[in-house]
Amino acid sequence: MSMSRTWWRGAAIYQVYLRSFADGNGDGCGDLAGLRSRLGYLKELGIDAVWLNPWYPSPMADGGYDVADYRDIEPVFGTLPEAEKFIAEAHDHGIRVIIDVVPNHSSTASAWFEEALVDRKARERFWFRDEPNDWSSIFGGPAWTQVPDGQWYLHLFAPEQPDLNWDNPEVHQEFEDVLRFWFDRGVDGFRIDSAALLFKSATGYEDLDDVHDVYRRWREIADEYGERILIGEVWLPDQERFARYLRPDELHTAFNFDFLSCPWRPAELRRVIDLTLSTHLPIGAPPTWVLSNHDVTRPVTRYGRADTAFEHGGRLHGSPSDLELGRRRARAAALLAMALPGCVYVYQGEELGLPEVEDLPDDARQDPMYARSDGANPGRDGCRVPLPWTGGEPPYGFGGPRPWLPQPEGWHGLTAQAQLADPGSMLNLYRSALRLRRDLLGDGTLSWLPSGDDVLAFGRDSGLICVSNLGAVPVPLPPGEVLLASGPLEGAALPPDTTAWLASPE
Ligand code: GLC
Repeated sequence: MSMSRTWWRGAAIYQVYLRSFADGNGDGCGDLAGLRSRLGYLKELGIDAVWLNPWYPSPMADGGYDVADYRDIEPVFGTLPEAEKFIAEAHDHGIRVIIDVVPNHSSTASAWFEEALVDRKARERFWFRDEPNDWSSIFGGPAWTQVPDGQWYLHLFAPEQPDLNWDNPEVHQEFEDVLRFWFDRGVDGFRIDSAALLFKSATGYEDLDDVHDVYRRWREIADEYGERILIGEVWLPDQERFARYLRPDELHTAFNFDFLSCPWRPAELRRVIDLTLSTHLPIGAPPTWVLSNHDVTRPVTRYGRADTAFEHGGRLHGSPSDLELGRRRARAAALLAMALPGCVYVYQGEELGLPEVEDLPDDARQDPMYARSDGANPGRDGCRVPLPWTGGEPPYGFGGPRPWLPQPEGWHGLTAQAQLADPGSMLNLYRSALRLRRDLLGDGTLSWLPSGDDVLAFGRDSGLICVSNLGAVPVPLPPGEVLLASGPLEGAALPPDTTAWLASPE
């Protein structure tokens, strides 16, 4: 493993949604045994770190974001000793390990909440009130639920996810201990869930100033351990407010949701890229480039639609998608994202070009968004379908006979095995790109090169040039040796919806 103290500034980070990655014991649910058995695949992919969604004991009311115990492992996933073994093995493969921490809310199955139900004094760790206010849950429906003795508790998400009270010093102490607990076990960083929502006031809860003191304290703890990082899930439209989380004594990086939501259109992409760079570079924080995660529509499906933006509301579910076009654009977008300065995230299955599964049977859907919107919002299950590894039919080598979400027929060409054998596959594109990226890309800046309006062209310090054609007709490539292209070239021309990487001739 490279010992660079700033490895995280240019890292490629692979997001593991453990439930759907690989099932080692055949119960239909992904687990640590499955993940450990696939570390070779991840090493060959060429990533620097994995980020795992919550692996803690949980009733899974929100896919593990309802944490019952922050210091243990969900038995369906494995055990604490196995998690420690996994961390050591990942390190042996040159892969760092980032885990999720969920400070905004816990679970109604947590010891603290169970205590709060029987002891009113213990309610100060949460938000219990005699009367609810008018806040709605982010998942739909009211944000308050009544307990048998008449009081109400706040949950910004599902009722099984009671919000913690960050005005209570005990909550601060608890999370500082939790960070140390996992740093002591070798984890390399935390992805902080709902990082801007912790504090509540009479008027709201988004991005209240006190949250920065929490992250300053967390940064001190991370720095004590050296080389450990904090990544914020911060959805804030205001760039100036967003940048405050990335001050030198706060978080190392935060997810770039503007890029993730941006339509496949050149002017908008260029605007988002410029805005991202001008937000990050002056404060010395590396930008991050994210095309997908466990909450959003798979890019292959999104980019094949007439409207290629992502928005949470209706998710454009079921609106027609030309998957072939979507796949071509997703390939081009991947090379674009990987060439930009900073860190890049790859959400499991993105490297296989999986589409969103939009025809899940209603009774298979598990995301609370679906039930709480009375089915109006299909929720996020369609991007969480278990990965296809091998073979011609479900479960495609995922594990036991019945994965927790059904996989579609017709994914035999998308398995990792099938794609490894096909030089033109999405998987081989990701592998080649991530390798080149290691040496030539990552941290730094970019300089835009002159180009037509439909083209994004820029050079990096290493001399690599990245050109994406988002127009309708082929455009001439700049001089230089083509190192990699997301699709076939037409002689010296770059076809529509294609990205090429070139070595600049000087
Ligand atoms: C974040 C997670 C999402 C979860 C929510 C509540 O947005 O990414 O999956 O449902 O927080 O914890």
